Amino acid sequence: MNVLVIGSGGREHAIAWQCSQFNEVKRVFVAPGNAGTALEKKISNISIDSENIPGLISFAREELIDITIVGPEAPLVLGIVDEFKNEGLAIFGPSKRASQLEGSKVFCKDFLDRNNIPTAYYRAFTETKPAIDYVKEKGAPIVIKADGLAAGKGVIIANSIKEATDAINDMLDGNRFGEAGSRVVIEEFLEGEEASFIVMVDGNNILPMATSQDHKARDNGDKGPNTGGMGAYSPAPVVTDLVYKNAMEKVIRPTVDAMKSEGMPYTGFLYAGLMINQNENVKVLEYNCRFGDPETQPIMMRLQSNLASLCLLGANGSLANATAEWDSRSSLGVVMAAKGYPHSYQKGDIISLPESSSSVKVFHAGTVLEKEQILSNGGRVLCATALGKDLKDAQGRAYKLVNEVKWRGSYFRTDIGFKGL
Ligand code: AMP
Ligand code: GLY
Repeated sequence: MNVLVIGSGGREHAIAWQCSQFNEVKRVFVAPGNAGTALEKKISNISIDSENIPGLISFAREELIDITIVGPEAPLVLGIVDEFKNEGLAIFGPSKRASQLEGSKVFCKDFLDRNNIPTAYYRAFTETKPAIDYVKEKGAPIVIKADGLAAGKGVIIANSIKEATDAINDMLDGNRFGEAGSRVVIEEFLEGEEASFIVMVDGNNILPMATSQDHKARDNGDKGPNTGGMGAYSPAPVVTDLVYKNAMEKVIRPTVDAMKSEGMPYTGFLYAGLMINQNENVKVLEYNCRFGDPETQPIMMRLQSNLASLCLLGANGSLANATAEWDSRSSLGVVMAAKGYPHSYQKGDIISLPESSSSVKVFHAGTVLEKEQILSNGGRVLCATALGKDLKDAQGRAYKLVNEVKWRGSYFRTDIGFKGL
């Protein structure tokens, strides 16, 4: 089969690499890809932007693509899945309507609320004064979220009424996030531990992926500004059997059923960001309509079944009897970012990488290949990922790999995995 992967991050490198390991997969194309995907056997980059839907449709048709897998949220929210399907092309991802679970926080919260799916209490506002009155009524800490897509930067945890008021003014009056911030959700601050609960859905049937945990803050000890994610590991010990049961029965199953009964059946990866409390109860922090980055990198190292075949089953509504086989070892990925990320940073640094094997691999994100040299080209640049007999062992191997990367401008956390140890 021929596979098209859309996107250019570490997630897409890991997805494309996983698919390329199987004999039944002939070619994998990545649009637009990065230096990592350019260097893999059987994988080719194509220079079509991930939001150029007509361009991607023509390519999929010409190259007889059997299944298209969408990495990032932006093309999903634009409706890439609807347009591929209209052309009779197989694609795994949610429709434009269903993608609103991630595309609009107000849509997501209203959906959870009317279906009694556990989440923080909240209200949505377009006007500054009632929003500030609500914050004063509820007190701090409190969470302010821009409604639309804001590349992971639209969430402010306000520790005082002043911080909350500033965030509201910034979003609603200051136009800080443009259209995405013209509405805000103000919600209860939840305490507990977070986990990423990711499943594949075919409209009706659910195939859970291995559990994982991300590290959103830039610096050690979960300090510093929030980022897209600085490292992840799988499995996540915080997801005990009871947490797993609660997540499936109280969150994922009711979500899939309600999306169907409300006339927007959900197909694709569904990623619930969960907050887990001491009683092992779960609440939804957010939904993403795609796989996580960097969660994908350690999860793909553990997946032994062919992801492309699973996505094709998902796109055809045939996940009922599908299974996913997992390597029982732990996997851990350390993100190497450009110094300064998530603020301004330098691009164009020369990077040299160690050899990979079946148990250690450096996935690329913001890199380009120029004259056979790997250059940094983004904020999150690499994800050094390793399998180990347990989490501690995987951590040791991943950091050994990090130390073998030659790149002067890198920044990384030195404590990825600490919550699981
Ligand atoms: P989101 O994009 O909604 O997942 O928010 C980004 C991050 O902000 C989450 O991963 C949490 O760490 C934090 N966060 C979001 N909502 C809440 C909340 N209600 N209570 C506590 N932390 C939150
Ligand atoms: N790692 C968090 C995300 O993909 O949104």
